[in-house]
Amino acid sequence: MSTPMTGPVPPDHPAHDPDPNVETASAIARGELGDPALQDSLEQGRTGGDGSPVLEDPVLTVKDLNIVYEVGKGVHAVQDASFVLRRGEILGLAGESGCGKTTLAYGLNQLHRPPARITGGSVTFHDRDAAADVDVLALEGSALRAFRWSKVAMVFQGAMNSLNPVLSIRTQLGDVLTTHRPQMDRGERRRRSEELLELVGVDRGRIDAYPHELSGGMRQRVMIAMALALDPQLMIMDEPTTALDVVVQREILQEVLRLRRELGFAVVFITHDLPMLLEISDRIAVMKQGRIVELDTAENLYFAPQHPYTRRLLGSFPSLTGDAGDFVRAGFSGADQEATR
Ligand SMILES: Nc1ncnc2c1ncn2[C@@H]1O[C@H](COP(=O)(O)OP(=O)(O)OP(=O)(O)O)[C@@H](O)[C@H]1O
Ligand SMILES: [Mg+2]
Repeated sequence: MSTPMTGPVPPDHPAHDPDPNVETASAIARGELGDPALQDSLEQGRTGGDGSPVLEDPVLTVKDLNIVYEVGKGVHAVQDASFVLRRGEILGLAGESGCGKTTLAYGLNQLHRPPARITGGSVTFHDRDAAADVDVLALEGSALRAFRWSKVAMVFQGAMNSLNPVLSIRTQLGDVLTTHRPQMDRGERRRRSEELLELVGVDRGRIDAYPHELSGGMRQRVMIAMALALDPQLMIMDEPTTALDVVVQREILQEVLRLRRELGFAVVFITHDLPMLLEISDRIAVMKQGRIVELDTAENLYFAPQHPYTRRLLGSFPSLTGDAGDFVRAGFSGADQEATR
């Protein structure tokens, strides 16, 4: 059973009960991680696959995160997950169904709901606009509400079906702004909503449309526009294009890459589609049964996978390993690929 975490966008979530076992995130000072694995994760410096600059300073540090579903004997869905995400970086999260990707994604900004509980670890957000780091798991109430969407936004699994069918796109985009930017007047909201639609490649003339009047791809673009509304520093995208046909998928991915180039946000991108991840990610974390078993640059993961599970996962995509070799990651030359076969 791996679907209960999906579905409508939770507008909010009851305050998280701070866990006494949660480490004080302030102990993880920037650049003083004190953990060799995390330090390694930070030092794998490179630029984005599409030439976008990936800045060295971190936007998010996750350390030893543990999430348990407290049902029956308990399901330990996320076990000791640690990684550092850099500003502007795209981190792909891959792994078989039920390995804990969505649970981890929800934990990152406390969108998990009972029976899920964070039993240990820390999530630290390094805010571009503030001097002090944010201990995300200690946030509650209005501070948590203000943090979500404005700092870390999410595009959910199946999100395009979670638009409210009886409200126009204008109203739904406007609602995000009314809630989080109460100082904006009607005209400003209208302008910003139209600008957001154009940003994601939807004609601003469609702003008065209702969700059923838009294609699946357009609805998903609107969801991305909503996530972008408050100029977040991190976007978590959980299977954002899985329900769409391949052509539309690619168009939306191009759009996401372009937006990250222009706006500089970091992305945690979750999908089963490893070839796609290899193409768009700067680094990829491979998850198996709740654990991150390998985390490396997309190139290293493709050319020199270390973990047997990663090799198995790569092997399960014929286009990655077959003679035809119809997969070419941006920047990989055919000769490079031949040399590693
Ligand atoms: N509400 C819940 N109650 C109990 N167990 C749950 C709940 N939601 C998820 N789980 C379990 O937690 C584990 C991780 O689930 P999760 O949905 O995070 O996996 P996933 O990697 O996102 O899978 P998929 O690729 O299918 O989306 C699975 O074993 C799942 O059965
Ligand atoms: Mg999932």
